[in-house]
Amino acid sequence: MDLQDKIAFVTGGSGDIGGAICDALATAGADIALSYVGNHDAAQAAVERVTALGRRAIAIQLDQREESSIEAAAAQLRSAFGGCDILVNNAAWNIGIPFPDLGDLDAVTWDRVLETNVRGPYLLARELQPELTAGDGGRIVNIASVGGLAPSSSSIAYSCSKAALIHLTHCLAVAMAPKVAVNCVAPGLVEGTRMAGRLPDAVSAAARRQAVLGKVGSAVDIAAATVMLCQADTISGQTIVVDGGMPAAMNFG
Ligand SMILES: NC(=O)c1ccc[n+]([C@@H]2O[C@H](COP(=O)([O-])OP(=O)(O)OC[C@H]3O[C@@H](n4cnc5c(N)ncnc54)[C@H](OP(=O)(O)O)[C@@H]3O)[C@@H](O)[C@H]2O)c1
Repeated sequence: MDLQDKIAFVTGGSGDIGGAICDALATAGADIALSYVGNHDAAQAAVERVTALGRRAIAIQLDQREESSIEAAAAQLRSAFGGCDILVNNAAWNIGIPFPDLGDLDAVTWDRVLETNVRGPYLLARELQPELTAGDGGRIVNIASVGGLAPSSSSIAYSCSKAALIHLTHCLAVAMAPKVAVNCVAPGLVEGTRMAGRLPDAVSAAARRQAVLGKVGSAVDIAAATVMLCQADTISGQTIVVDGGMPAAMNFG
């Protein structure tokens, strides 16, 4: 798919990786609607970067735990751009709770992580299905984590949420075929990001130690993989790992 003049909705565009994805999709020719939940200044900065690249951009406030917020965000997107060709489910939430500390992972935290990281992406795909399946069809890229491929990362809830997001990718690839290709990017540790700052130290140290390329994942490579998956016409239901070359099945928790 040629991305020139396509419309992309990037959730969590105010975040570290989401911002890089907005920049890369705009560079490839797409107009960008990006969401934030509370960080308006970072969202506005992303809008300004995209606009400077010569593409249209808007920031939309979205709490994807709330169905009413998803409906309102979709209405804003439709009113501003009239459609949507690409959904990048990038927004997520994490909290650092070492795996062995089961007593610290309560039901409220579990629900917040799962609602944000899995239910939200599903509800967004459902809401935008009419636009994504219109015409020649579109693309969904879900941003998961290596924590969804192995028992690792910031908490058990987060690891389970990303495993579920990877399987949601498989399910949506079937459900939305043949009009929509649905794929996934699974980052490992990305240094300097807000989320990486919430990882237990042992998890970050293990990720650095085990990256066979001598460096961990980068937002630029995650964004490039996302653009490639939007451009490709014959890839669906796949997950690309961007983690510095760490064997995905390894338990580094
Ligand atoms: N950073 C890493 O090391 C790493 C590793 C593996 C996977 N990932 C994945 O990569 C993606 C991006 O991560 P990041 O590092 O860029 O995270 P980040 O900087 O913390 O950004 C998270 C984004 O999600 C938004 N968000 C949080 N809760 C939300 C909610 N309830 N509804 C809607 N939006 C919400 C935030 O909005 P505000 O800015 O307004 O708060 C922000 O835009 C995530 O899916 C993450 O799980 C990251």
